[in-house]
Amino acid sequence: MSTTELAQAGRDPAPVAAIALAAGLGTRMRSARAKVLHELAGEPMIVAALRPLLALGADPLIVVVGHQAQQVEAVVRAAFADGARFKFALQADQRGTGHAALCAMDCLPASFSGDVLITYGDMPRLQPGTLAGLLQSHRQCGAALSFISVELADPGAYGRVVRDSGGEVAAIVEAKDASAAQREIREINTGVYAARTDFLRGALGAIGSDNAQGEYYLTDLVAIARGRGLAVKAIKTARIGEFAGINSREELAAVSAEIHMEINRRLMASGVTLIDPATAYIGAQVEIGTDTVIGPNVQILGRSKIGSGVRIDGTAWLRDVVIGDRSYLKIGVRAESCRIGEDCEVGPFAHLREGTELEGHNRIGNFVETKKAHIGRGTKASHLSYLGDARVGRDTNVGCGVITVNYDGYDKHPTEIGDRCMVGCDTQLIAPVKVGSDVYIASGTTVLRDIPDGTLAMSHHPQREKPGWTANWHKRHQKRGQTGSGAGS
Ligand code: UD1
Ligand code: CA
Repeated sequence: MSTTELAQAGRDPAPVAAIALAAGLGTRMRSARAKVLHELAGEPMIVAALRPLLALGADPLIVVVGHQAQQVEAVVRAAFADGARFKFALQADQRGTGHAALCAMDCLPASFSGDVLITYGDMPRLQPGTLAGLLQSHRQCGAALSFISVELADPGAYGRVVRDSGGEVAAIVEAKDASAAQREIREINTGVYAARTDFLRGALGAIGSDNAQGEYYLTDLVAIARGRGLAVKAIKTARIGEFAGINSREELAAVSAEIHMEINRRLMASGVTLIDPATAYIGAQVEIGTDTVIGPNVQILGRSKIGSGVRIDGTAWLRDVVIGDRSYLKIGVRAESCRIGEDCEVGPFAHLREGTELEGHNRIGNFVETKKAHIGRGTKASHLSYLGDARVGRDTNVGCGVITVNYDGYDKHPTEIGDRCMVGCDTQLIAPVKVGSDVYIASGTTVLRDIPDGTLAMSHHPQREKPGWTANWHKRHQKRGQTGSGAGS
């Protein structure tokens, strides 16, 4: 389906709501964390699973939560700006998919009369076009209920699609409840449904739990509809991979690798060089400009946006980072929630923490850590510094070993440094403190109070000398039978 068709499906005047079932723990993950919170290619599974529903314009989009309900809700709310569309229905005990869907119905406004899509929170590969296709067929045949089925060589534990003599869908029978003959059926239920709201409202309450698992099966809707003389359609598709639920860590890793490869192919096709695509872990939401070169072992996550002609040597971890054109990240950069302007040089081994802003043409060298630091255009901190809660002007040079002493054990305090300053090596700025422009701070200075514009500041201790001291020192130790080779041993 093309994007225009998709957009049309999204703009379809007939309203569509959605229910995503995500209450289960997922025992095969062997995790204390709810399955849908596990990350797939850098984002929680539930986020990827909800995206196609949003793309189709589902409103409301009801997420049925149970295990770690609050965390799941928080993750979903944080991931999508369009928060108003989401509703969260609590299913305190997981009594089956039918019960889960029933729990969601309270969140559907009484006035809603469109169609409802039902999917799972652990089905992150589902594409919006596939859902749009389901919805379209469902509406065209005027079915009360439609679902997507696939043919599998090994139908395993999936629900079997049982058809009547006329070839119409008669029921879905779970593997555990199936007869030997039914178990031979290779057409299975994917768990993706579209249903008319009027049908759902009445039918969900009619589901019982008299089956092998003692659960309320959503799949019983099929037989209920047929019993009421309503049409049920199975939309068969060959796109098997989209419906693979993720049940184990091994599946999580395999699907992550697939997603990464897809993203990498798209990026390479758009003009980005990946030196080693197998070790480029780039999130689905990341944007990268042309002629950017990304080295091995790089993770670029979240809503990062990287310009053109950028070079990232390798071994970098970047989340929610904006990088301007032509900037160069040498090996070993970690950066989070920050903005790096154009033509900057960062690293090797630099740590840009949240709230760092480099205006452009900056150099942040090895073993420099920044946090909530606004660094003016052309300013450099080339070696071994900590700049936290700081605002530094333009064309200032921050010498080796400069430290903003921002924390008194209770509170953080700001440091301000103006334009065109020379901050000498090993200077400590005891915050809160304000350094003007065109200030020269001698190396080793402890800056305790504000420094006005154009001033030289120093706090040198007088130097003392003891001639011949070293030879005496060695002599004292050698008498005790120790050996020393002088400095640096
Ligand atoms: C279900 C279908 C089966 C289909 C298969 C496809 C039923 C009865 N069976 O089986 O026909 O072939 O999916 O994957 O529906 N969930 C809840 N609350 C619950 C139970 C489940 O939210 O009480 C959620 C789970 O978190 C999961 C989804 O529903 O995301 C599916 O549940 P699962 O137990 O995996 O269903 P299956 O038994 O695999
Ligand atoms: Ca399943």
